[in-house]
Amino acid sequence: MQERNGYICLDAGGTSLVLACHLGQRPSLLYWGPRLSLSDPDTMRAMLTRQHAPGSADVEVPGSLINELGSGVAGQPGFSAHRSGEDWASVFAVTTVRRPAPNTVELVCRDENTGVQATHIIHLNPDSQILVCETEIENIGDSPLSIERCSAASLPLDPRATRLFGFTGRWAGEFQLEPIPPFTGSYVRDNRKGRTSHDSFPALICGAAETNEQNGLCFGFHLGWSGNSRVCVDRLSDGRSFVQMGELFFPGEMSLNPGETYRSPCLYAGVSDQGFSALSRLFHSHVQTAILNDRIAQKPRPIHYNTWEAVYFDHDRSTLFELAEKAADVGAERFILDDGWFGGRRGDKAGLGDWWPSPDVYPDGLGPLVEHVTGLGMEFGLWFEPEMVNPDSDLYRAHPDWVLQADGVDQVPFRGQYTLDLSRPEVCDYLFDRLHKVLSEYEISYIKWDMNRDIHHPGSRGRPAGSQQTRALYALIERLRAHHPDLEIESCSSGGGRADYGILRHTDRIWTSDSNDALDRQRIQRGASHFFPLAVMGAHVGPETCHITGRRLSMQLRVATALFGHMGMELDLLQESAADLNILKAGIALHKRHRDLIHTGEFHRLETPDHVNAIGVVSDDQSEALFSWCNLTGHRETLPGRVFFAGLDAAKSYRTRIVWPDPVRSISRPSILEGTGLAGEGLIAPGEALMHLGLQIPLLHPETCLIFHLQKI
Ligand code: DGJ
Repeated sequence: MQERNGYICLDAGGTSLVLACHLGQRPSLLYWGPRLSLSDPDTMRAMLTRQHAPGSADVEVPGSLINELGSGVAGQPGFSAHRSGEDWASVFAVTTVRRPAPNTVELVCRDENTGVQATHIIHLNPDSQILVCETEIENIGDSPLSIERCSAASLPLDPRATRLFGFTGRWAGEFQLEPIPPFTGSYVRDNRKGRTSHDSFPALICGAAETNEQNGLCFGFHLGWSGNSRVCVDRLSDGRSFVQMGELFFPGEMSLNPGETYRSPCLYAGVSDQGFSALSRLFHSHVQTAILNDRIAQKPRPIHYNTWEAVYFDHDRSTLFELAEKAADVGAERFILDDGWFGGRRGDKAGLGDWWPSPDVYPDGLGPLVEHVTGLGMEFGLWFEPEMVNPDSDLYRAHPDWVLQADGVDQVPFRGQYTLDLSRPEVCDYLFDRLHKVLSEYEISYIKWDMNRDIHHPGSRGRPAGSQQTRALYALIERLRAHHPDLEIESCSSGGGRADYGILRHTDRIWTSDSNDALDRQRIQRGASHFFPLAVMGAHVGPETCHITGRRLSMQLRVATALFGHMGMELDLLQESAADLNILKAGIALHKRHRDLIHTGEFHRLETPDHVNAIGVVSDDQSEALFSWCNLTGHRETLPGRVFFAGLDAAKSYRTRIVWPDPVRSISRPSILEGTGLAGEGLIAPGEALMHLGLQIPLLHPETCLIFHLQKI
């Protein structure tokens, strides 16, 4: 870090950042992009000087780190607040510059006029190169301050980043990258679902016209927040663009009494001049090194067996015992008892809130099942949905007032359940006590923390409390972790409805989607991979006929798809044929052999035609790689194209083998599989040729996924 004439320069790996933080002036980001070795901030400022344009203000209002409304900046304000309609025009000027840690800067800015202090916390992570921005607001006035909006930061967007992608999706179809057509004005995504949501994952990817997966300038932005959010890109008519992300407040929701503070969630931002895959690697490295709990991040991710699609609510002791045996036999290392084990939960309309084993299904408690599972050498995991309550539950009958609601308005029906009001300490105490008791009584290594409804009316005692709800959730999880430090937690919300860096700071895995349809999953996991590493992405082998899409897919394809993630299974093993069980077992063994590479290697998405999805991982020393090439729908031409690998050592040769399906067969014979050695002892070719000449793919049926193993020789 260097400080010069009111500028602070931070560098990390291939990224540089220059902050303008002159005392008495509005702070701004002068530069954030690929590393500059000779940056002289005064020269940079001179290079960026703009001039008066007729019909405009005599002096253009510069952007700041939060584009506060009072500055007169055109476009969406990043900060807007008032005191009953007064004191709305805050303008923040730097009063103090603090440097609490290397690569962290805190800029304390004040507006004495409106009585507001804004502290920007800017951290450029030296390892991951990810920029992390937060803003803290303090009410330094003497009456309550209503905050309408407070972005984590306003970041100017490089004008070359003309291609923008947001995220859309739905239940069982999360993380769909959506190109944003050119616009002037604002692209705004408001999320009022009370969870991260399936449809508005708070993130953006921006690239230059020619950027692709392997080359070019690109930027990524993500808000680490699991509640209501607002994502905004402003393209002003003067040519400047800004990205802003922050919480979305309901009317009057965020009010600070004198002396109180509000801290925004973190905005995570990355830049690369080496394409979208390299950008993802920065985010992955940030998750692995700065977000995940260290102890768990270092541990091999065990193979899961989850009971949901096998038994749903039909819990039966002998079936579960048998399933556990089968699961252990095919290679499971953790058995997770999903929904249906507690209270009166014989279906999805009752029992939530009553967190004790159902006496009618588990008359001796969970002990016998837990002991059976651990006796088979597996860890035991258990499902909870702590924030929810069914009207048909002992909890609701005792405390009907414990739910979030808006006075005088009917609840929007949603899976027969309401959301508990976590802003009430007594609710969190109840939940902590119940979960703590179950976790203390049995040997439980893992919980799946589910959340299955949108929160339409986040009202508590007459006022909106969505922000408090999310903060209380984080605090509740932390309280449990403090008492159960070895516990691993999965964040699930009807699949990937609560997957973000905010919740990942308190959990260890995300349930990526409820769809176990391997073809859907190829796209969902590709989308999620922009921000999430494979190690946290729950990916399960589902049944032959997907329960959600009705599509029938081979075991080979289902295995190949789940292999590139935190692998597991979620199917009725008692109904599977011996042949399919053998394939599953072989696939799990393959995952275990390469688990370390899959979960720690450098990740690549390959550029492919639409009918193909191809991704891969390369070890840090480039000695080994594993790539997956999936023919999703079949090809237009007579033969499939070539695969162009990435990330290899260009100067060294690799032995390339197709290790899945095993055995691999082409549609017609003789095929290139026999001639090249790809399916046998391997094809030896230079890394540069594998990346730039490409390797012809054999003729395959649609819905076939090949896995290539490459070893440097
Ligand atoms: C939604 C989850 O995503 C599923 O995996 C399952 O746990 C159900 N909830 C249980 O109700």
